[in-house]
Amino acid sequence: MNDKIAVLNPASDQVVGQVPFQGRAETAAAIEAAAAALGPWRERTAGDRGRVLRRFASFMYRDKERLARVLTLEQGKPLAEARGEIAYGAAFLDWAAEEGKRLYGETIPGSHKNQRILVLRQPVGVTAAITPWNFPSAMITRKLGPALAAGCTMVVKPAELTPMSALALLELAHEAGVPEGVFSIVTGDPEVIGEELLSNPLVRKLSFTGSTRVGKHLMAKAARNVTRLSLELGGHAPFIVFDDADLEAALDGAMGCKFRNMGQTCICANRFLVQEGIYDAFAAGLTERVAAMRVGDGLAEGVTVGPMINDAAVEKVQRHLDDALALGATIRTGGRLLRPSPELAERFFEPTVLEGVTGDMLVSREETFGPIAPLRRFTSEAEAIEIANDTIYGLAAYFFTRDASRLMRVAEALDYGIVGANDGGPSTAQAPFGGFKQSGIGREGGRYGMDEYVEVKYVSWRI
Ligand code: SIN
Repeated sequence: MNDKIAVLNPASDQVVGQVPFQGRAETAAAIEAAAAALGPWRERTAGDRGRVLRRFASFMYRDKERLARVLTLEQGKPLAEARGEIAYGAAFLDWAAEEGKRLYGETIPGSHKNQRILVLRQPVGVTAAITPWNFPSAMITRKLGPALAAGCTMVVKPAELTPMSALALLELAHEAGVPEGVFSIVTGDPEVIGEELLSNPLVRKLSFTGSTRVGKHLMAKAARNVTRLSLELGGHAPFIVFDDADLEAALDGAMGCKFRNMGQTCICANRFLVQEGIYDAFAAGLTERVAAMRVGDGLAEGVTVGPMINDAAVEKVQRHLDDALALGATIRTGGRLLRPSPELAERFFEPTVLEGVTGDMLVSREETFGPIAPLRRFTSEAEAIEIANDTIYGLAAYFFTRDASRLMRVAEALDYGIVGANDGGPSTAQAPFGGFKQSGIGREGGRYGMDEYVEVKYVSWRI
Protein backbone atom coordinates (compact mmCIF):
# COMPACT_ATOMS: atom_id res chain seq x y z
CA MET A 1 0.00 0.00 0.00
CA ASN A 2 1.20 3.54 -0.77
CA ASP A 3 2.28 5.22 2.47
CA LYS A 4 2.42 8.76 1.03
CA ILE A 5 -0.10 11.13 -0.54
CA ALA A 6 1.23 13.27 -3.37
CA VAL A 7 -0.05 16.84 -3.11
CA LEU A 8 -0.72 18.43 -6.51
CA ASN A 9 -0.85 22.06 -7.57
CA PRO A 10 -4.33 22.34 -9.12
CA ALA A 11 -3.02 25.00 -11.51
CA SER A 12 -0.46 22.71 -13.15
CA ASP A 13 -0.89 19.19 -11.76
CA GLN A 14 2.72 19.33 -10.61
CA VAL A 15 3.57 17.50 -7.40
CA VAL A 16 4.32 20.12 -4.75
CA GLY A 17 4.75 17.87 -1.74
CA GLN A 18 4.09 14.56 -0.09
CA VAL A 19 2.46 13.79 3.23
CA PRO A 20 1.99 10.52 5.13
CA PHE A 21 -0.95 8.30 4.22
CA GLN A 22 -2.13 7.44 7.70
CA GLY A 23 -4.97 5.25 8.86
CA ARG A 24 -6.75 3.92 11.87
CA ALA A 25 -3.74 3.04 14.03
CA GLU A 26 -2.15 6.50 13.64
CA THR A 27 -5.50 8.16 14.36
CA ALA A 28 -5.97 6.10 17.51
CA ALA A 29 -2.43 7.01 18.60
CA ALA A 30 -3.13 10.73 18.04
CA ILE A 31 -6.34 10.45 20.08
CA GLU A 32 -4.48 8.74 22.91
CA ALA A 33 -1.81 11.45 22.84
CA ALA A 34 -4.59 14.08 22.97
CA ALA A 35 -6.11 12.30 25.98
CA ALA A 36 -2.74 12.17 27.75
CA ALA A 37 -2.10 15.86 27.07
CA LEU A 38 -5.57 16.95 28.21
CA GLY A 39 -5.03 17.05 31.99
CA PRO A 40 -1.93 19.28 32.03
CA TRP A 41 -3.37 21.59 29.34
CA ARG A 42 -6.75 21.95 31.04
CA GLU A 43 -5.04 22.72 34.36
CA ARG A 44 -3.10 25.66 32.99
CA THR A 45 -4.73 29.04 33.51
CA ALA A 46 -6.76 30.55 30.69
CA GLY A 47 -4.26 33.43 30.63
CA ASP A 48 -1.39 31.02 30.15
CA ARG A 49 -3.14 29.15 27.33
CA GLY A 50 -4.03 32.52 25.82
CA ARG A 51 -0.38 33.59 25.78
CA VAL A 52 0.56 30.45 23.81
CA LEU A 53 -2.26 31.04 21.33
CA ARG A 54 -1.33 34.69 20.86
CA ARG A 55 2.27 33.66 20.16
CA PHE A 56 0.96 31.10 17.63
CA ALA A 57 -1.09 33.85 15.95
CA SER A 58 1.91 36.20 15.90
CA PHE A 59 3.96 33.52 14.13
CA MET A 60 1.24 33.21 11.51
CA TYR A 61 1.47 36.98 10.88
CA ARG A 62 5.29 36.76 10.88
CA ASP A 63 5.27 33.90 8.32
CA LYS A 64 2.31 35.17 6.33
CA GLU A 65 4.14 35.24 3.03
CA ARG A 66 5.49 31.69 3.34
CA LEU A 67 2.15 30.26 4.55
CA ALA A 68 0.25 32.06 1.80
CA ARG A 69 2.56 30.58 -0.82
CA VAL A 70 2.04 27.05 0.50
CA LEU A 71 -1.70 27.69 0.44
CA THR A 72 -1.76 28.93 -3.14
CA LEU A 73 0.52 26.11 -4.30
CA GLU A 74 -1.76 23.37 -3.04
CA GLN A 75 -5.14 25.10 -3.29
CA GLY A 76 -4.87 27.47 -6.24
CA LYS A 77 -6.39 30.69 -4.88
CA PRO A 78 -4.68 33.95 -5.89
CA LEU A 79 -1.81 34.89 -3.58
CA ALA A 80 -3.53 38.08 -2.36
CA GLU A 81 -6.49 35.97 -1.21
CA ALA A 82 -4.15 33.45 0.41
CA ARG A 83 -2.51 36.26 2.40
CA GLY A 84 -5.97 37.38 3.45
CA GLU A 85 -6.80 33.86 4.59
CA ILE A 86 -3.67 33.64 6.76
CA ALA A 87 -4.57 36.91 8.50
CA TYR A 88 -8.21 35.76 8.84
CA GLY A 89 -6.97 32.46 10.31
CA ALA A 90 -4.61 34.12 12.79
CA ALA A 91 -7.47 36.36 13.98
CA PHE A 92 -9.37 33.30 15.26
CA LEU A 93 -6.41 32.36 17.47
CA ASP A 94 -5.98 35.92 18.70
CA TRP A 95 -9.65 36.33 19.51
CA ALA A 96 -10.01 32.98 21.28
CA ALA A 97 -6.83 33.65 23.28
CA GLU A 98 -8.60 36.59 24.94
CA GLU A 99 -12.06 35.08 25.17
CA GLY A 100 -10.75 31.99 26.99
CA LYS A 101 -10.30 34.28 30.00
CA ARG A 102 -14.01 35.06 29.99
CA LEU A 103 -15.52 31.59 30.31
CA TYR A 104 -17.56 32.84 33.22
CA GLY A 105 -19.81 30.62 35.29
CA GLU A 106 -22.88 31.67 37.23
CA THR A 107 -24.61 31.31 40.59
CA ILE A 108 -28.35 30.65 40.71
CA PRO A 109 -30.52 31.13 43.82
CA GLY A 110 -31.45 27.75 45.33
CA SER A 111 -34.96 26.37 46.03
CA HIS A 112 -34.48 26.34 49.77
CA LYS A 113 -32.39 28.36 52.18
CA ASN A 114 -29.52 25.88 52.39
CA GLN A 115 -29.10 25.35 48.63
CA ARG A 116 -26.71 27.24 46.36
CA ILE A 117 -26.38 26.43 42.66
CA LEU A 118 -23.06 27.01 40.91
CA VAL A 119 -22.81 26.77 37.13
CA LEU A 120 -19.36 25.82 35.83
CA ARG A 121 -18.21 25.91 32.22
CA GLN A 122 -15.57 23.26 31.65
CA PRO A 123 -13.66 22.06 28.59
CA VAL A 124 -15.36 19.29 26.59
CA GLY A 125 -12.16 17.19 26.55
CA VAL A 126 -10.53 15.52 23.55
CA THR A 127 -11.97 16.97 20.37
CA ALA A 128 -11.50 16.35 16.66
CA ALA A 129 -11.89 18.39 13.50
CA ILE A 130 -12.30 17.48 9.84
CA THR A 131 -11.47 20.51 7.73
CA PRO A 132 -12.06 21.41 4.07
CA TRP A 133 -9.81 22.28 1.12
CA ASN A 134 -11.39 25.64 0.31
CA PHE A 135 -9.96 27.45 3.38
CA PRO A 136 -7.21 25.05 4.49
CA SER A 137 -5.74 27.36 7.15
CA ALA A 138 -8.61 29.44 8.49
CA MET A 139 -11.00 26.51 8.93
CA ILE A 140 -8.43 24.85 11.21
CA THR A 141 -7.79 27.88 13.40
CA ARG A 142 -11.52 28.68 13.60
CA LYS A 143 -11.96 25.32 15.37
CA LEU A 144 -8.59 24.98 17.07
CA GLY A 145 -8.48 28.48 18.62
CA PRO A 146 -11.59 28.12 20.80
CA ALA A 147 -10.91 24.45 21.52
CA LEU A 148 -7.43 25.13 22.90
CA ALA A 149 -8.47 28.36 24.64
CA ALA A 150 -11.23 26.48 26.49
CA GLY A 151 -8.75 23.81 27.64
CA CYS A 152 -9.57 21.05 25.13
CA THR A 153 -7.09 19.14 22.99
CA MET A 154 -7.69 18.51 19.29
CA VAL A 155 -6.85 15.99 16.55
CA VAL A 156 -7.29 17.50 13.08
CA LYS A 157 -7.81 15.66 9.82
CA PRO A 158 -7.22 18.17 7.00
CA ALA A 159 -8.57 17.69 3.49
CA GLU A 160 -6.51 15.23 1.41
CA LEU A 161 -6.05 17.93 -1.26
CA THR A 162 -4.56 20.55 1.07
CA PRO A 163 -2.64 18.94 3.94
CA MET A 164 0.53 21.04 3.66
CA SER A 165 -1.09 24.20 5.03
CA ALA A 166 -2.22 22.18 8.04
CA LEU A 167 1.24 20.74 8.66
CA ALA A 168 2.76 24.21 8.38
CA LEU A 169 0.36 25.37 11.13
CA LEU A 170 1.31 22.42 13.34
CA GLU A 171 4.97 23.39 13.11
CA LEU A 172 4.19 26.96 14.15
CA ALA A 173 1.99 25.77 16.99
CA HIS A 174 4.85 23.73 18.41
CA GLU A 175 7.25 26.64 17.99
CA ALA A 176 4.77 28.81 19.90
CA GLY A 177 4.69 26.36 22.81
CA VAL A 178 1.59 24.25 22.14
CA PRO A 179 2.62 20.95 23.80
CA GLU A 180 2.84 17.67 21.88
CA GLY A 181 -0.55 15.97 21.81
CA VAL A 182 -2.55 19.14 22.49
CA PHE A 183 -2.85 19.67 18.72
CA SER A 184 -2.02 16.92 16.25
CA ILE A 185 -2.74 16.14 12.63
CA VAL A 186 -3.49 12.92 10.82
CA THR A 187 -3.35 12.87 7.03
CA GLY A 188 -4.72 10.02 4.96
CA ASP A 189 -7.87 8.12 4.14
CA PRO A 190 -10.85 10.25 5.19
CA GLU A 191 -13.26 7.36 5.63
CA VAL A 192 -10.92 5.34 7.85
CA ILE A 193 -9.79 8.34 9.92
CA GLY A 194 -13.38 9.57 10.30
CA GLU A 195 -14.45 6.11 11.43
CA GLU A 196 -11.84 6.10 14.21
CA LEU A 197 -12.64 9.67 15.27
CA LEU A 198 -16.32 8.78 15.65
CA SER A 199 -15.98 5.35 17.19
CA ASN A 200 -13.23 6.06 19.71
CA PRO A 201 -14.98 6.91 23.00
CA LEU A 202 -12.13 9.23 24.02
CA VAL A 203 -13.30 11.74 21.38
CA ARG A 204 -16.05 13.85 22.93
CA LYS A 205 -16.67 16.24 20.08
CA LEU A 206 -16.17 16.53 16.33
CA SER A 207 -16.32 19.73 14.31
CA PHE A 208 -16.70 19.35 10.54
CA THR A 209 -16.75 21.81 7.67
CA GLY A 210 -17.74 20.40 4.29
CA SER A 211 -20.69 19.22 2.26
CA THR A 212 -24.18 18.54 3.60
CA ARG A 213 -23.94 15.00 2.21
CA VAL A 214 -20.83 14.16 4.25
CA GLY A 215 -22.22 16.03 7.28
CA LYS A 216 -25.27 13.74 7.32
CA HIS A 217 -23.03 10.68 7.06
CA LEU A 218 -20.97 11.91 10.05
CA MET A 219 -24.13 12.61 12.02
CA ALA A 220 -25.24 9.03 11.59
CA LYS A 221 -21.83 7.76 12.72
CA ALA A 222 -21.75 10.17 15.69
CA ALA A 223 -24.97 8.62 17.00
CA ARG A 224 -23.05 5.55 18.22
CA ASN A 225 -21.18 7.39 20.99
CA VAL A 226 -23.47 10.43 21.01
CA THR A 227 -20.38 12.43 20.01
CA ARG A 228 -21.11 16.16 20.11
CA LEU A 229 -21.07 17.73 16.66
CA SER A 230 -20.58 21.11 15.06
CA LEU A 231 -21.37 21.07 11.35
CA GLU A 232 -20.67 23.85 8.87
CA LEU A 233 -22.23 22.52 5.67
CA GLY A 234 -23.35 23.64 2.24
CA GLY A 235 -25.02 26.89 1.27
CA HIS A 236 -27.02 28.34 -1.61
CA ALA A 237 -26.76 32.04 -0.86
CA PRO A 238 -29.18 34.49 -2.46
CA PHE A 239 -27.82 37.96 -3.22
CA ILE A 240 -30.77 40.36 -3.50
CA VAL A 241 -30.43 43.79 -5.07
CA PHE A 242 -33.41 46.09 -4.48
CA ASP A 243 -34.24 49.04 -6.72
CA ASP A 244 -33.19 51.44 -3.96
CA ALA A 245 -29.72 49.90 -3.50
CA ASP A 246 -26.49 51.86 -3.81
CA LEU A 247 -25.45 50.40 -7.16
CA GLU A 248 -21.68 50.72 -6.67
CA ALA A 249 -21.86 49.20 -3.18
CA ALA A 250 -23.96 46.31 -4.51
CA LEU A 251 -21.46 45.69 -7.33
CA ASP A 252 -18.48 45.79 -4.95
CA GLY A 253 -20.29 43.42 -2.60
CA ALA A 254 -21.22 41.08 -5.45
CA MET A 255 -17.67 40.79 -6.77
CA GLY A 256 -16.09 39.94 -3.43
CA CYS A 257 -18.89 37.68 -2.39
CA LYS A 258 -19.25 35.73 -5.63
CA PHE A 259 -15.70 35.32 -6.91
CA ARG A 260 -13.65 34.90 -3.73
CA ASN A 261 -11.79 31.59 -4.03
CA MET A 262 -13.17 31.09 -7.57
CA GLY A 263 -16.67 30.82 -6.11
CA GLN A 264 -15.66 27.82 -3.99
CA THR A 265 -16.93 29.25 -0.72
CA CYS A 266 -19.90 27.96 1.29
CA ILE A 267 -21.18 31.50 1.82
CA CYS A 268 -20.55 32.87 -1.68
CA ALA A 269 -23.51 34.25 -3.60
CA ASN A 270 -24.97 31.37 -5.59
CA ARG A 271 -27.89 33.23 -7.19
CA PHE A 272 -28.53 36.90 -7.82
CA LEU A 273 -32.07 38.23 -7.48
CA VAL A 274 -32.25 41.68 -9.00
CA GLN A 275 -35.28 43.98 -8.94
CA GLU A 276 -36.69 45.17 -12.28
CA GLY A 277 -35.81 48.85 -11.87
CA ILE A 278 -32.08 48.33 -11.24
CA TYR A 279 -31.64 45.16 -13.25
CA ASP A 280 -30.12 46.66 -16.43
CA ALA A 281 -27.63 48.85 -14.57
CA PHE A 282 -26.60 46.05 -12.21
CA ALA A 283 -26.23 43.50 -15.02
CA ALA A 284 -24.13 45.90 -17.11
CA GLY A 285 -21.91 46.88 -14.17
CA LEU A 286 -21.37 43.28 -13.09
CA THR A 287 -20.60 42.16 -16.65
CA GLU A 288 -18.00 44.90 -17.06
CA ARG A 289 -16.26 44.04 -13.79
CA VAL A 290 -16.35 40.29 -14.36
CA ALA A 291 -14.95 40.61 -17.89
CA ALA A 292 -11.99 42.55 -16.44
CA MET A 293 -10.98 39.75 -14.05
CA ARG A 294 -7.66 38.07 -14.76
CA VAL A 295 -7.56 34.29 -14.95
CA GLY A 296 -4.27 32.45 -14.33
CA ASP A 297 -1.87 30.81 -11.92
CA GLY A 298 -2.63 32.13 -8.44
CA LEU A 299 1.08 32.78 -7.87
CA ALA A 300 1.27 35.25 -10.78
CA GLU A 301 1.02 38.97 -10.07
CA GLY A 302 -2.38 40.51 -10.79
CA VAL A 303 -4.31 37.23 -11.16
CA THR A 304 -7.76 37.39 -9.59
CA VAL A 305 -9.13 33.98 -10.63
CA GLY A 306 -7.12 30.79 -10.12
CA PRO A 307 -7.88 27.18 -11.05
CA MET A 308 -10.76 25.11 -9.75
CA ILE A 309 -9.62 22.65 -7.11
CA ASN A 310 -10.01 19.54 -9.32
CA ASP A 311 -11.76 18.08 -12.35
CA ALA A 312 -14.85 17.09 -10.38
CA ALA A 313 -15.34 20.76 -9.45
CA VAL A 314 -14.98 21.77 -13.11
CA GLU A 315 -17.44 19.10 -14.16
CA LYS A 316 -20.07 20.39 -11.71
CA VAL A 317 -19.75 23.99 -12.86
CA GLN A 318 -19.95 22.88 -16.50
CA ARG A 319 -23.04 20.78 -15.75
CA HIS A 320 -24.78 23.74 -14.10
CA LEU A 321 -23.85 26.01 -16.98
CA ASP A 322 -24.99 23.53 -19.66
CA ASP A 323 -28.27 22.98 -17.84
CA ALA A 324 -28.95 26.72 -17.59
CA LEU A 325 -28.16 27.26 -21.28
CA ALA A 326 -30.35 24.33 -22.30
CA LEU A 327 -33.24 25.83 -20.32
CA GLY A 328 -32.93 29.27 -21.93
CA ALA A 329 -30.30 31.27 -20.02
CA THR A 330 -27.75 33.29 -21.99
CA ILE A 331 -24.13 34.22 -21.31
CA ARG A 332 -23.30 37.91 -20.84
CA THR A 333 -19.60 37.20 -20.30
CA GLY A 334 -17.35 34.19 -19.66
CA GLY A 335 -18.57 30.63 -19.92
CA ARG A 336 -15.41 28.90 -21.14
CA LEU A 337 -13.08 26.39 -19.56
CA LEU A 338 -9.52 27.63 -20.14
CA ARG A 339 -5.94 26.48 -20.15
CA PRO A 340 -4.26 29.89 -19.73
CA SER A 341 -0.86 28.64 -20.93
CA PRO A 342 0.65 25.32 -22.10
CA GLU A 343 2.29 24.59 -18.72
CA LEU A 344 -1.01 24.98 -16.89
CA ALA A 345 -3.91 22.51 -16.61
CA GLU A 346 -7.27 22.95 -18.35
CA ARG A 347 -8.96 23.71 -15.04
CA PHE A 348 -9.60 27.44 -15.13
CA PHE A 349 -13.24 28.40 -15.40
CA GLU A 350 -13.85 31.85 -16.80
CA PRO A 351 -15.88 33.99 -14.41
CA THR A 352 -19.32 34.02 -15.94
CA VAL A 353 -22.46 36.15 -15.82
CA LEU A 354 -25.67 34.43 -16.90
CA GLU A 355 -29.03 36.04 -17.49
CA GLY A 356 -32.53 34.85 -18.27
CA VAL A 357 -32.23 32.54 -15.29
CA THR A 358 -35.36 30.80 -13.99
CA GLY A 359 -36.24 28.81 -10.89
CA ASP A 360 -36.14 25.39 -12.57
CA MET A 361 -32.42 25.58 -13.43
CA LEU A 362 -29.75 23.77 -11.40
CA VAL A 363 -28.07 27.11 -10.66
CA SER A 364 -31.28 28.17 -8.91
CA ARG A 365 -31.62 25.00 -6.90
CA GLU A 366 -28.18 23.63 -5.99
CA GLU A 367 -24.87 24.97 -4.76
CA THR A 368 -22.68 25.48 -7.86
CA PHE A 369 -19.42 26.11 -5.97
CA GLY A 370 -17.87 27.88 -8.92
CA PRO A 371 -17.48 31.27 -10.63
CA ILE A 372 -20.95 31.59 -12.16
CA ALA A 373 -23.19 34.55 -11.36
CA PRO A 374 -26.77 33.73 -12.47
CA LEU A 375 -29.06 36.79 -12.66
CA ARG A 376 -32.78 36.45 -12.09
CA ARG A 377 -35.31 39.30 -12.08
CA PHE A 378 -37.95 39.94 -9.45
CA THR A 379 -40.61 42.57 -8.93
CA SER A 380 -41.66 42.72 -5.25
CA GLU A 381 -39.92 42.36 -1.88
CA ALA A 382 -42.25 39.50 -0.93
CA GLU A 383 -41.34 37.63 -4.11
CA ALA A 384 -37.60 38.05 -3.46
CA ILE A 385 -37.92 36.71 0.08
CA GLU A 386 -40.01 33.78 -1.05
CA ILE A 387 -37.44 32.79 -3.71
CA ALA A 388 -34.54 33.37 -1.32
CA ASN A 389 -35.99 31.12 1.39
CA ASP A 390 -37.13 28.37 -0.98
CA THR A 391 -34.19 26.02 -0.31
CA ILE A 392 -33.04 23.34 2.11
CA TYR A 393 -30.01 25.52 2.89
CA GLY A 394 -29.76 28.41 5.32
CA LEU A 395 -26.14 29.49 5.63
CA ALA A 396 -25.69 33.01 4.20
CA ALA A 397 -27.88 35.54 2.39
CA TYR A 398 -27.15 39.06 1.17
CA PHE A 399 -29.26 42.04 0.23
CA PHE A 400 -28.68 45.65 -0.75
CA THR A 401 -31.09 48.48 0.00
CA ARG A 402 -30.95 52.07 1.24
CA ASP A 403 -34.30 51.85 2.99
CA ALA A 404 -33.73 51.42 6.76
CA SER A 405 -37.18 49.90 7.40
CA ARG A 406 -36.72 47.40 4.63
CA LEU A 407 -33.26 46.58 5.93
CA MET A 408 -34.58 45.33 9.27
CA ARG A 409 -37.67 43.69 7.73
CA VAL A 410 -35.71 41.69 5.18
CA ALA A 411 -32.89 40.79 7.60
CA GLU A 412 -35.50 39.27 9.92
CA ALA A 413 -37.38 37.48 7.14
CA LEU A 414 -34.38 35.73 5.63
CA ASP A 415 -34.14 32.17 6.96
CA TYR A 416 -30.36 32.19 7.21
CA GLY A 417 -27.71 32.14 9.94
CA ILE A 418 -25.62 34.88 8.32
CA VAL A 419 -27.13 37.93 6.64
CA GLY A 420 -25.02 40.50 4.82
CA ALA A 421 -27.10 43.71 4.81
CA ASN A 422 -25.31 45.99 2.34
CA ASP A 423 -22.29 43.79 3.08
CA GLY A 424 -20.82 41.19 0.73
CA GLY A 425 -18.09 40.11 3.18
CA PRO A 426 -19.56 39.38 6.60
CA SER A 427 -16.95 36.82 7.79
CA THR A 428 -14.91 37.90 10.78
CA ALA A 429 -13.42 36.21 13.85
CA GLN A 430 -15.78 37.65 16.45
CA ALA A 431 -19.07 36.80 14.68
CA PRO A 432 -21.06 33.56 15.07
CA PHE A 433 -20.61 31.86 11.68
CA GLY A 434 -23.11 29.07 11.02
CA GLY A 435 -26.26 28.00 9.27
CA PHE A 436 -29.94 27.18 9.63
CA LYS A 437 -31.69 24.14 8.14
CA GLN A 438 -29.41 21.68 6.29
CA SER A 439 -26.49 24.12 6.39
CA GLY A 440 -25.42 22.89 9.77
CA ILE A 441 -25.45 22.82 13.53
CA GLY A 442 -23.56 25.11 15.90
CA ARG A 443 -21.58 28.30 15.45
CA GLU A 444 -17.93 29.13 14.92
CA GLY A 445 -16.29 32.38 15.89
CA GLY A 446 -16.88 34.82 18.70
CA ARG A 447 -18.17 33.78 22.10
CA TYR A 448 -20.73 31.47 20.49
CA GLY A 449 -17.82 29.54 18.97
CA MET A 450 -16.32 29.09 22.44
CA ASP A 451 -19.57 27.53 23.66
CA GLU A 452 -19.03 24.64 21.25
CA TYR A 453 -15.99 23.51 23.28
CA VAL A 454 -17.50 23.91 26.74
CA GLU A 455 -19.64 21.61 28.87
CA VAL A 456 -22.05 23.24 31.30
CA LYS A 457 -22.10 21.64 34.74
CA TYR A 458 -24.07 22.71 37.77
CA VAL A 459 -23.15 22.00 41.34
CA SER A 460 -26.03 21.93 43.81
CA TRP A 461 -24.37 22.86 47.09
CA ARG A 462 -25.89 22.30 50.54
CA ILE A 463 -24.45 24.71 53.05
C1 SIN B 1 -16.41 28.50 4.06
O1 SIN B 1 -16.64 28.63 2.89
O2 SIN B 1 -16.63 27.41 4.60
C2 SIN B 1 -15.84 29.58 4.94
C3 SIN B 1 -15.97 30.93 4.41
C4 SIN B 1 -15.67 32.01 5.39
O3 SIN B 1 -15.26 31.74 6.53
O4 SIN B 1 -15.85 33.16 5.03
